[in-house]
Amino acid sequence: MGWALILGASSGFGEAAARAFARAGYDIVGVHLDRRAAAEHVAALVADLEAQGRRVAFFNGNAADDEQREAVLDRVATLVDPSAGGRVDLLLHSLAFGTLTRFVPDPDEAPVGGRAAAGVSRKQLEMTLDVMANSLVYWTQGLVRRGLMGPGGRIWAMTSAGSHRVMPHYGPVSAAKAALESHCRQLAVELAPRSITVNAVMAGVTDTPALRKIPGHDRLIAKAVEANPHGRLTTPEDVAACLVELARPGTAWLTGNVLRVDGGEDVAG
Ligand SMILES: NC(=O)c1ccc[n+]([C@@H]2O[C@H](COP(=O)([O-])OP(=O)(O)OC[C@H]3O[C@@H](n4cnc5c(N)ncnc54)[C@H](O)[C@@H]3O)[C@@H](O)[C@H]2O)c1
Repeated sequence: MGWALILGASSGFGEAAARAFARAGYDIVGVHLDRRAAAEHVAALVADLEAQGRRVAFFNGNAADDEQREAVLDRVATLVDPSAGGRVDLLLHSLAFGTLTRFVPDPDEAPVGGRAAAGVSRKQLEMTLDVMANSLVYWTQGLVRRGLMGPGGRIWAMTSAGSHRVMPHYGPVSAAKAALESHCRQLAVELAPRSITVNAVMAGVTDTPALRKIPGHDRLIAKAVEANPHGRLTTPEDVAACLVELARPGTAWLTGNVLRVDGGEDVAG
């Protein structure tokens, strides 16, 4: 087993994937962006992964920052040592960092600080697309350029039903998800000659810190439980278990897809 590189490894899907891949025998590189308050949680996670007998390296920084990304990848290259046959087998893009606001203010919205609400700004929209979509391209370039990922490599990016459905305040993230799915298709074709597969993974509504930041998340949760034919929300562990299966060599022909991992929620809803 080689290494799994997980962007967004300290929480939600990324954390569950780190735990599942460590159990499956992969060494783990995790990238996350957390304040000091989360340090204890991250230290406990790293200790759990190491207790599985795995090599583990976690980096707290902004995955969308060019310099920080290149520094992490250089460090990964020394850990993995591709010249000695070491490889990053898996890349999971699971970053939640976007602006959740309307494009155009609600006419009934109360003014903030005496000023009318403005709607999303250019900076907010571009930042959301950069972190939640475009960063996938740059991390993939960095891995391939360094010879860190080769034949048999698997790349997954977490998308949501928001890529094709309108949800209140979710416009910037919706746009990022649509772009992310497009990036996965493009990368799938460009990386096919290198025998690397790329798929977007569309999780169902899952109770994580990112979900709880969406205004009206209580309604989203209630609707998802009602729509889901399993009668419950998706869990990070549901998704992590599927990813472990998707890492197997027998899935080498599965690329360029948006894979629903939601218990049937999207087709039923
Ligand atoms: N929760 C859901 O219902 C749901 C459903 C479908 C898809 N998704 C997607 O799954 C992905 C992960 O979401 P989650 O629910 O697990 O969120 P989460 O809040 O539990 O975890 C987000 C992770 O991203 C990291 N992070 C955020 N910004 C970062 C940055 N700039 N640089 C480095 N790390 C950064 C955080 O530290 C954390 O580890 C997101 O893309 C989200 O849109 C979520």
